[in-house]
Amino acid sequence: MRARAGKVIDYTPLVDEALSRAEFKVPQVLLIDRQLAPERLQASYLVAYEPLREKFFDAHVPCEWLESNEPSYTLYTSGTTGKPKGVQRDVGGYAVALAASMEHIFQGAPGDTMFTASDIGWVVGHSYIIYAPLIAGLTTVMYEGTPIRPDGGIWWRLVEQYKINLMFTAPTAIRVLRKQDASLMEKYDLSSLRTLFLAGEPLDEPTAQWVQSALKKPVIDNYWQTETGWPMIAIPRGIEELPSKLGSPGVPSMGFNLTLRNEVTGDVCAAGEKGVVALDYPLPPGCMQTVWRDDQRFVDTYWQSVPDQLLYSTFDWGVQDEDGYVSILGRTDDVINVAGHRLGTREIEEALSSHPAVAEVAVVGIADAVKGQAAAAFVVLRDPDRINAPGASEGLQAELCHAVDSQLGAIARPARVCFVSMLPKTRSGKLLRRAIAALAEGRDPGELPTIEDPSALMQVREALGGQ
Ligand code: PRX
Repeated sequence: MRARAGKVIDYTPLVDEALSRAEFKVPQVLLIDRQLAPERLQASYLVAYEPLREKFFDAHVPCEWLESNEPSYTLYTSGTTGKPKGVQRDVGGYAVALAASMEHIFQGAPGDTMFTASDIGWVVGHSYIIYAPLIAGLTTVMYEGTPIRPDGGIWWRLVEQYKINLMFTAPTAIRVLRKQDASLMEKYDLSSLRTLFLAGEPLDEPTAQWVQSALKKPVIDNYWQTETGWPMIAIPRGIEELPSKLGSPGVPSMGFNLTLRNEVTGDVCAAGEKGVVALDYPLPPGCMQTVWRDDQRFVDTYWQSVPDQLLYSTFDWGVQDEDGYVSILGRTDDVINVAGHRLGTREIEEALSSHPAVAEVAVVGIADAVKGQAAAAFVVLRDPDRINAPGASEGLQAELCHAVDSQLGAIARPARVCFVSMLPKTRSGKLLRRAIAALAEGRDPGELPTIEDPSALMQVREALGGQ
């Protein structure tokens, strides 16, 4: 049982379901009663927490020595297909890269205290809640909760209480805090805090400027991916002092031979020219070794975007200025970024298609003032009459959202579900996602290829309320 943003979530049915699906036989499950909703607790796995804690509190857990290339973990991440990839990382290279990043990017020294406010299941949590600060001799603050409960001052209270020196989170959290009472930030002593780092999604200028002037501390963006494990674009320190530039996470980090490439020829772009952010072989320590149990997929997915050249594609567009600073301009594929969470539109489409009422579906990312992007779904029903009765449309929307919640989690739930009788496609049957997204954001869809049936675009427009 756990409370998330004040809502009690029953964990036992989730554990039951996971156990029933797991091929591996789990020897023991520990369930701790946190007294959140004792009446709803199923006793099957319940353990008495206090005696257990007493027993193991001072336990010495010896190191397990591993060869440096052994896998340390796999972390699943989304791409263009409906099947997430298991990013496999090593032990030695990852440890070395993280330790170096603490010194040369995150300004951390032994004895400092770092607070990374992130999901532990996200790569930022793995790298900068757990491994990097602990490897580099820092204290790490682990906090379970949202930035606005019990009120919007909770993070700043933690800074005061634990004398936090370094903070790391995603821009979405700052956009959420910006809506809170500003005096909550002034109430606490933030003198220990040196720098706030942000990553995971584009850092828009108003958000960067607001938090910088509210905190009166430097705010530093950095850019990377689950695949790289640590920042590939950042503001380095210790070698030469580089200022931050608004709108850019910085310059390529040590070890990353990063260039902007023409998407067709693979040629290096001139300053100011938009291209795909690419990395030369070999990737530096800390980056993924392969796709878990699928080396071929690793090669096919990441290394084949330019013929005859061994280049790793990040699937992000970028542009580099005369001084070497790179700005990120969005994804080249159908991946969207909702509140810093990386989601494949294909995965959401597959979850929606699993509902028997759905014939066809398109999911696109649309701009959202707080989350950066949100998912919007356009659904063609097998039986369009199904939503004629009063309330039927809302009922089905709720069922479809539930299908996404249960398969991918609530973060992937579409902000809008619109019913249409057909989707805009080219004559060869390719979905016009960009045009749908443009209409959904109230933009002009621009030049379009020949559409199978132009009225499909009109339908999208009407489904959105005739914008
Ligand atoms: O599109 C880029 C965006 O997030 C993607 C990686 O997401 P994920 O695998 O969840 O790893 C996040 C690690 C911080 C990238 O391909 N992204 C990440 N950081 C930035 C960003 N976009 C713009 N600016 C950033 N600082």
